[in-house]
Amino acid sequence: MSARFEDLPDQTFQAVKHAIVSRKSTRAFLPRPVEPALIDELLLIAGMAPSGSNIQPWKVHVVSGKARDKLSAELLAAHQQKMPEEREYQYYPVKWRSPYIERRRATGWGLYGLLNITKGDREATARQHGRNFEFFDAPVVLIFTMDNDMETGSWLDYGMFLQNLMVAARGCGLHTCPQAALANYPGIVKKQLTIGDDQIIVCGMVMGYEDTSDPVNQFQPSRIGLEEFVTYHRD
Ligand SMILES: Cc1cc2nc3c(=O)[nH]c(=O)nc-3n(C[C@H](O)[C@H](O)[C@H](O)COP(=O)(O)O)c2cc1C
Repeated sequence: MSARFEDLPDQTFQAVKHAIVSRKSTRAFLPRPVEPALIDELLLIAGMAPSGSNIQPWKVHVVSGKARDKLSAELLAAHQQKMPEEREYQYYPVKWRSPYIERRRATGWGLYGLLNITKGDREATARQHGRNFEFFDAPVVLIFTMDNDMETGSWLDYGMFLQNLMVAARGCGLHTCPQAALANYPGIVKKQLTIGDDQIIVCGMVMGYEDTSDPVNQFQPSRIGLEEFVTYHRD
């Protein structure tokens, strides 16, 4: 074990590691609700994330019950009617290139292959993509926004907050899926949740208890090895 962990009991490392590596984008949930007090606790833990000058740029809408169902119905209708997407920021490179294009394809084909959706079956692909807007049946969805005059550094801060939340959720048996798809129709989300135009919809996240019987949750996208992303400087 690395020297960094010497002052901590091994079980702490194991617990932290387990929470991190057992996080996976979960795309089928049980109807079992999540206690509102637990969500609040997780959000407070997530808020322990670092942020430049401690500005804490995150803002969260917790959506459940009838509000959840209404938001889902509106988003699903937009998806099914092929309403043009109106994203407020560019998530992906405008021009895809190697090695990212290959990694993206491997992930897409891996997921759809597992679900027996063949390449070119647009209807089945759209149906599976539409599951995003049913929130994968999770009982609660979180919508994350940020003041629209924040700069790139705040996006870094936001990522740390989101990862904290997902890892903390694992610590109490919950699973999550972060969803950029929920930023595809910011107009609908803002109207439903009365969010002002001074906010940017960063992404969404579903949270709940995994439906282990659904094969979609067996998907395990691979990771690159150290040799692909680390350069050592020793001399
Ligand atoms: C910010 C962000 C947005 C994402 N948006 C979606 C999404 O809209 N729908 C979805 O099914 N997965 C989404 N994902 C999940 C990624 O596809 C997933 O993290 C990646 O394939 C690695 O798999 P893993 O999370 O299971 O380790 C998103 C992930 C991140 C970090």
